[in-house]
Order: sequence, then C-alpha cells, then structure tokens
Amino acid sequence: MSGFDPKKVDAVVLVGGKGTRLRPLTLSMPKPMLPTAGLPFLTHLLSRIAATGIERVLLGTSYKAEVFEEEFGDGSKLGLQIEYVFESDPLGTGGGIANVAPRLRHDTVVVFNGDVLSGADLGSLLEFHHGHSADLTLHLVRVADPRAFGSVPTDENGRVTAFLEKTQDPPTDQINAGCYVFDRKIIDRIPRGRPVSVEREVFPALLSDGVKVCGYVDATYWRDMGTPEDFVRGSSDLVRGIAPSPALPGDRGEALVHDGASVAPGAVLIGGTVVGRGAEIGPGSRLDGAVIFDGARVDAGSVIERSIIGFGAHVGPRALIRDGVIGDGANIGARCELLRGARVWPGVELPDCGIRYSSDV
Ligand code: GDD
Ligand code: MG
Repeated sequence: MSGFDPKKVDAVVLVGGKGTRLRPLTLSMPKPMLPTAGLPFLTHLLSRIAATGIERVLLGTSYKAEVFEEEFGDGSKLGLQIEYVFESDPLGTGGGIANVAPRLRHDTVVVFNGDVLSGADLGSLLEFHHGHSADLTLHLVRVADPRAFGSVPTDENGRVTAFLEKTQDPPTDQINAGCYVFDRKIIDRIPRGRPVSVEREVFPALLSDGVKVCGYVDATYWRDMGTPEDFVRGSSDLVRGIAPSPALPGDRGEALVHDGASVAPGAVLIGGTVVGRGAEIGPGSRLDGAVIFDGARVDAGSVIERSIIGFGAHVGPRALIRDGVIGDGANIGARCELLRGARVWPGVELPDCGIRYSSDV
C-alpha cells in the first residue's frame, strides 16, 4: 500500500438502526450483532477494517447500544481501538456521522453502514480517494434491482452526478454500497442537533454545492444483510467461503456446526447451513441454507430451507419451513408448514398441523 497511512484514518461504523426489516430477530438483538457464520455480523466488518491497517473505530450507536460494548469492549481483541458514540434519539445516517465529529482525530474518515458484507479492498478505495483528490468518495456496486438502494450515476471521469435514494425508476443500476471516504472538512458541513439523512439530504446538497464527489466502482462480493432473504444468503455465502471474511478460516465447507451442538445421524446439512452452540438437529431432518441460532431445536424429519430459527426456538417433527423466520423461543408444532416469508414472533406456540399449505394432513 502506498500514498496514505491507514493509521491516519478514522473509521466510523453506523449501527444505530432498528433493523425493522429483520424483525422479529431484531427485537432482542441489534441487526449488526446477529450471529452470522458463528460470529456477530459486525465482527466480519471490523476484521476487514483491522486487516486494512486502520486502528481507530468509532461506533455510532443508538438502538440497543449497550450490546456492542459488551461484545467488543475496547476493541483490543480485534487489534482495534473502538470507541462508542451514543445517540439517545436516533439522528439518522447523516446525524450519526456528524455526532462522531468531535471524536475524530484524522483528516480522512471512512464511514460504513454496519450491515454490509463486502469484499471491497479498502486500501484501494482510500488510494482512489487520495489519487482523485476527492472531497468525498462513495463505494459503488452494480445490482440487479437498484430500487431498494441509493442509485448513483457517475460521469466519464468518475464524478458522481446525482444521488437518488430508493426511487421507483432509478437512472442506473450502479448503487451506493454503504461505504464512504470523507474528507474531514465535509463532515463539518452536516447540520447538527437534528436527524439528518446522509442519503436524502447531505449527498444531494454536496452535489448541488459543487463538492468533488467521486465514485469508486468494483465488482467484488457485496450484500446488504438487512432483509431475511439477504441475511440467509449472506450467512450461507460466509459459511461456504463465497463471501470473504478475515475473521473466518480460509477453508470453509458446505455447513458449519458449532461446539456443543448435536446433529443426529442421517440429518442432511447443506447449502451453507449453520448450526449454533447447543442446538439440536434431529434424525432424518434436512437443512438447506438454514441459519439455526444457539439453543434452537429441530426435530426428526423436518425440512428447513433458507430460513432462520431464532435463539431457543423449537421446530417439531416433520415440519417444513421455507423462506421463513422463527422468532426466539417460538414453538412450531409437528407437521406445520411455514412458507414464503412467514415470520413467527418470539414465544408464539403453533399447535401440531396448526398451519399448512396443503390439505393432505
Ligand atoms: N447511528 C445511527 N443512527 N445509525 C443508523 C441510524 C441512526 O439513526 N439509522 C440507520 N443507521 C445505520 C443502520 O444500523 C445501518 O447499519 C446503516 O445505518 C444503514 O441503514 P439501513 O437501514 O440498513 O439502510 P438501507 O439498507 O435501507 O440503505 C442504505 O444502505 C444501502 C446499501 O446497503 C443507504 O445508504 C442506501 O443508499 C444504500 O444503497
Ligand atoms: Mg441496510
């Protein structure tokens, strides 16, 4: 790496959102702390920051803020110095960045959304920012459906020409990947003391003021983990080694079973399934792309596909769960069928055959 010293960069990670699209899992735990391939999701991002040589990380917290400090403390286990900056009322993405400003020590600040799984090379991103003498550089990726993201067109010189957050008819499939390099003086322009959206307010204002905003486009692994579908997919990709993470070993397999879990003979675990600590998987069950949190139980003959089973939840025998989310401690009776985006709230009890999608009970 040349041209800049990563020790002279502050990292800011925004983790204050409520994670509503991942409810009910986020009722008990903030989204960036949900277990992903056996680690709190944020560990993968923090390890990537540490691997770049950046040392100082400010976490912008709000919702369930205390959980982050309990897990990461001063950051020394990850080779980082982590500080926590709390918003008692959420200030939005822009407000969250402005709120950490008094704690910044360096002129280059790299800001991350705390729910993105990415293989982008942060060293190259920082080189690009300095090489282009940009005031602000946005990491951009291309996606099949840009409507759920910030659409970000650029000109032939890589200058960002517009920023359109979550529009029905986006002008380009090139989107905001949720990672920005700010020149410190730009952060000082964000309004203080009220909620501000960096996407809807700050970026458009900077562009109309003629600030030099550049787009760094790459084609490495990228996924926002904010919905059950994406969370399941990202977890599976981490388990199988399709998604990179410096926090995981290089050789990964088809499934990951954690210490203290028991998997009965004849159970089939495929598609990047992960089985948490103390979980129990019964004989003849089939788990394909399943995310089984700690202490959950899946009984004999059940099929779990692309679904998340919350902490301590129980799935009775011969149930089918496909593209669903089962909340912590819920109890799914034998032969229930839960399909296509079903979400069961924590502690809910479904009797045997209580919900079916077919009539042959
Ligand atoms: N500190 C703080 N305060 N953090 C917040 C707040 C807040 O009030 N609101 C949201 N966050 C954090 C969330 O915890 C998350 O890590 C990050 O900011 C982004 O919020 P999301 O709710 O996940 O946003 P999104 O996925 O709908 O859209 C954003 O990310 C996309 C890429 O993943 C936007 O930045 C889009 O433009 C972008 O394409
Ligand atoms: Mg998101």
